[in-house]
Amino acid sequence: MDGLDGRIRVVKGDITTLEVDAIVNAANASLLGGGGVDGAIHRAAGPGLLAECRTLHGCDTGSAKVTAGYRLPARWVIHTVGPVWAGGTRGEPGLLASCYRTSLVLAATAGARSVAFPAISTGVYGYPIEAAARIAVREARAFLRASRVPETVFFCCFSQSDREVYEALLNQPEGA
Ligand code: APR
Repeated sequence: MDGLDGRIRVVKGDITTLEVDAIVNAANASLLGGGGVDGAIHRAAGPGLLAECRTLHGCDTGSAKVTAGYRLPARWVIHTVGPVWAGGTRGEPGLLASCYRTSLVLAATAGARSVAFPAISTGVYGYPIEAAARIAVREARAFLRASRVPETVFFCCFSQSDREVYEALLNQPEGA
């Protein structure tokens, strides 16, 4: 539907198990770990990940930083800090879009051929899944149209309902 020849895919599961070059972590500004997908990634990567994160001195909302993947199948972890949902009038959409764009730039720069995203900000940070997924799909489509790398973007959903939201959006032509 989007002319990207299947370069954007949706999967359901635990992002820490995916055999991709890079996974994106929905971190907090400290980059020192947390719950949700952040906790899962740190648990799976092992203590080396936190040790490297300590050298990064945090990350601004909407931005992203790269580390190695340590014990994860992924070679890199791209840590991005999503906005906390505050009703949608405090710049959240732009900050979330920046998370996806910045993470894709870092993935391409690192040489990742495949990258997997969780549904950034839609857990603890409370961002409504449909609005967040719409931004994710829009940004991935825009980036991949302009870049041959990464070759494939995976949206890794932790629930079936989230997966269905992404799949419905990907079945809509752009701009729908
Ligand atoms: N694999 C894939 N997705 C996951 C996993 C996992 N192992 N665990 C959780 N998720 C999903 C959640 O179901 C949600 O859809 O990741 C999405 C993001 O939820 P959170 O992890 O709560 O992240 P976020 O809403 O961005 O809040 C970030 O939570 O864990 C803390 O340190 C983190 O302070 C930061 C905040």
